[in-house]
Amino acid sequence: MRKKLAAGNWKMNGTLGSMIEIDALMEKHPDPKCDVLICPPATLVAAMAATIGDGAIKTGGQDCHAQTSGAHTGDISAQMLADAGASYVIVGHSERRQDHNESDSDIRHKAESAISAGLVTVVCCGETDAEREANSTLEIISGQLAASIPDTATGENLVVAYEPIWAIGTGKVPTLEQIGEVHDFIRAKLEKRFGQDVGCCVRLLYGGSVKPSNADEIFAVSNVDGALVGGASLKAADFSGIITALENS
Ligand code: 13P
Repeated sequence: MRKKLAAGNWKMNGTLGSMIEIDALMEKHPDPKCDVLICPPATLVAAMAATIGDGAIKTGGQDCHAQTSGAHTGDISAQMLADAGASYVIVGHSERRQDHNESDSDIRHKAESAISAGLVTVVCCGETDAEREANSTLEIISGQLAASIPDTATGENLVVAYEPIWAIGTGKVPTLEQIGEVHDFIRAKLEKRFGQDVGCCVRLLYGGSVKPSNADEIFAVSNVDGALVGGASLKAADFSGIITALENS
């Protein structure tokens, strides 16, 4: 069975003062029935890991460089994230693909590096509004998966997040049928490429305007094993509702 995962992506939000949200989350969910992950900005990874200590919440990065170390000013390697206390990292978020021109091949190299560093790697995929309108969603997802996921992926070290770009931060959510269609498609692609034993164990997250009010119905969709949450992960009160919905799904 796949262990459900409630993941928060704080994006470029949060300072040391935000650790009160982590304290509040730990107080509300000392022993969650699902995995709970928060990916704060890199500046907070060590502080968050220290705040959590032996607690159940996991800490993750939002991106990593493909190399272990070297002359890459401003970048952070997967090994550095692990050293700071992270156990997960997101790669290939659409905001990285758009703002930093990251290609599928860049993302694959980052994911390889993350897996080598022992991090669970959350590879993101998702179509634009125009691609959805042009009926090319599955083709886009297929291409992103094939080119961004490394051959070293397993059910333990890979999580795939489906985040339609038009649903991120917009309050627009695909229909449950649309989410189910893409998640079933991703599952079938993973089983074909990696074999059923591996493909069946990779957790698939939905991301894009997930809130406590819509989490229940999204978590009831086939092959949705959790969520990657932006805005609603910043406040413990909101994220807690999503964790509870996942625990009860
Ligand atoms: P929102 O939940 O704010 O729509 O963001 C989703 C996202 O991009 C998570 O990575």
